[in-house]
Amino acid sequence: MKYRYPFPFLVHGGDYNPDQWVDTPEVWDEDMRLMKLAHINSATVGIFSWSLLEPREGEYEFGWLDTVMDKLAANGVSAILATPSGARPPWLAEKYPEVLRVEESGVRNEFGVRHNHCLTSPVYREKVRHINAALAERYRDHPALTMWHVSNEYSGCCHCPLCQEAFRDWLKKRYHGDLEKLNFYWWNGFWSHRYTSWEQISSPKFRGENSVPALKLDWRRFVTEQHISFFENEIAPLKAATPDIPVTANLMGTYDGINYQALAPHLDLVSWDSYPVWEQGENMKSAYTCGFTHDLMRSLKDGQPFFLMESTPSVVCGRGVNKLPAPGRQALASMLALAAGADSIQYFQFRKGRGGAEKFHGAVVDHGGGENARVFRQVAKLGRELERLAPVAGTRCDNRVAILYDWENRWATDVYCGYNNDRRDYVEECVKWYAALTECGVGADIVSETADLSKYRLVIAPCLYMLLKGAEERLASYVKNGGRLVSGYLCGVVEEHDLCFMGGVPAGELKNVFGVRATETDALPAGMPGKAGYNGREYAVEHVCDLLQADTATVLGSYQSDFYAGTPAVTVNTYGEGKAYYAAFRNDGGFVRDFCADILKDAGIGPDTGITAPENVFVKKRGDYIFVLNFSDREQTAGLDAEYEDLLCGTRRSGKLTLPVCGYAVLKKTDSTGGHDVCKMDQ
Ligand code: GAL
Repeated sequence: MKYRYPFPFLVHGGDYNPDQWVDTPEVWDEDMRLMKLAHINSATVGIFSWSLLEPREGEYEFGWLDTVMDKLAANGVSAILATPSGARPPWLAEKYPEVLRVEESGVRNEFGVRHNHCLTSPVYREKVRHINAALAERYRDHPALTMWHVSNEYSGCCHCPLCQEAFRDWLKKRYHGDLEKLNFYWWNGFWSHRYTSWEQISSPKFRGENSVPALKLDWRRFVTEQHISFFENEIAPLKAATPDIPVTANLMGTYDGINYQALAPHLDLVSWDSYPVWEQGENMKSAYTCGFTHDLMRSLKDGQPFFLMESTPSVVCGRGVNKLPAPGRQALASMLALAAGADSIQYFQFRKGRGGAEKFHGAVVDHGGGENARVFRQVAKLGRELERLAPVAGTRCDNRVAILYDWENRWATDVYCGYNNDRRDYVEECVKWYAALTECGVGADIVSETADLSKYRLVIAPCLYMLLKGAEERLASYVKNGGRLVSGYLCGVVEEHDLCFMGGVPAGELKNVFGVRATETDALPAGMPGKAGYNGREYAVEHVCDLLQADTATVLGSYQSDFYAGTPAVTVNTYGEGKAYYAAFRNDGGFVRDFCADILKDAGIGPDTGITAPENVFVKKRGDYIFVLNFSDREQTAGLDAEYEDLLCGTRRSGKLTLPVCGYAVLKKTDSTGGHDVCKMDQ
């Protein structure tokens, strides 16, 4: 897709819902004044505006939006214009009930909430196309328009008769019209499930078929493709009228209902909504998970900068307890996004609504109004900083290490029945390795099984349970050509229909790559860990572990408990020009940390920068810029190996860099010498 990238600066803004204030338009003028004071340069408008834009079928009322768009343009604020399909007007649901979603129970939802639509309904698709076309025609040449925000957080699925039919058609294509093929791949000989007609098949449901893993996988693949075709239907009129304007859809990080790795090629730009849970204290789990997810989002489009489309400027409202994050926490989290490749910091939302479900969700402008509020001041300060960080926009992260995170693999680890059904932990396992790399000062891309691995010196595959087509060959040739590959437990167990590989695991050539066979897999109940030794230290074995037979591999560590004490738990094998490590057990992270440091050393991969960071301080490199982020709960001092320009303070630094709690700095190496730690962080 071709488009013009409209943002040679960092975008600062967020969801702006002037339609909630249409009866008091003087609020709009106050908003413009406050946007300037908050250094906001972008507003995402119209996300849920359908009932105001088309109050009656086919009757469009754009007057209010014209005024808002004109005001934005006049005030130098760019508009990210949304398509409104995330929520529909009551008349639409009333007249065409087929647009409403049918839940697994088979019962059609009534009108209400949002994201409550059928993805297949021809009526809904048509109505969405019409309103999108009307918007695109009206604003195609408007000076404020910079990007399209398509719908809102695509999610969920529908089980209506139209969707069932579409699913069957999709299956017919996938299995080339051959029902016997489907019966084979779904292993329908088990429990007498062999179908004799396509009409007997329906979506997985609690009340119906929910025991066939291959059905569940195919359903998720189908739902992803329905979303993609729904998206394509949405953007057709946008692309026709405004081919230069990029389109995005706000994603939800590691949300598992849609394969974002399949959706991403259809987006011009990836954007996502990040709402980490920050408790009091260090919050390292949140910090690592958040960093991992940003890096995952960046990697969806091969490292292209992404947008942080939503975050809260202060508090959320939908959790059990909605604690105010510590002052500075939101800014620190924003810096983490930038460090990972974000070109924007955006919020939900600019002004708090007076009523409705989310009136207590944090916003830039509170019910109290005006600029004299702590949160507003924080946002304005961040806005000023983003202006100073403009040169960071568009720069890329260049990493030598990749972690394999694959949506289909995650689904597969979610749907099998066996091993440790209580602790599948796909995301958590990937984050564990990510945390270990971060502690070593090494950045990573987070890529799918089908990604090109040749540019990486090290690839870590924490949960390679399912091998998609070609993965075995790709991984083998990666190692043969000099790559270093690390596998966690449960490697290469099933092919893409969740059929087990015959002949033992890891599948096929991977046995030679790793030089081991996983002969059995044990699961450990909560609170009853086993033990393994590695490098003279003892580690807990938790939840799951493979029992290995080393063929050509060298044993680096062994189990020390249970009937398999003394057998291999950690191995390394030379294969072609490269090396393959197998870490056969799950551990709380201590083992992964130590092991990761050893592997990096062995591969000659040093930290990405010369900055030495104390515990819980992240050092992340993006282009020539180095972000130093203090996630610990105390003041910390990092060591600088050279002289750096401090972009936020505009001074030079060398020697030491002291950061308060939630403190951060963005540095760029200078050529000259001298300079002192003279800049006081204005937190
Ligand atoms: C997001 C959503 C927004 C808003 C926000 C705060 O997930 O896209 O519309 O609801 O959460 O809860």
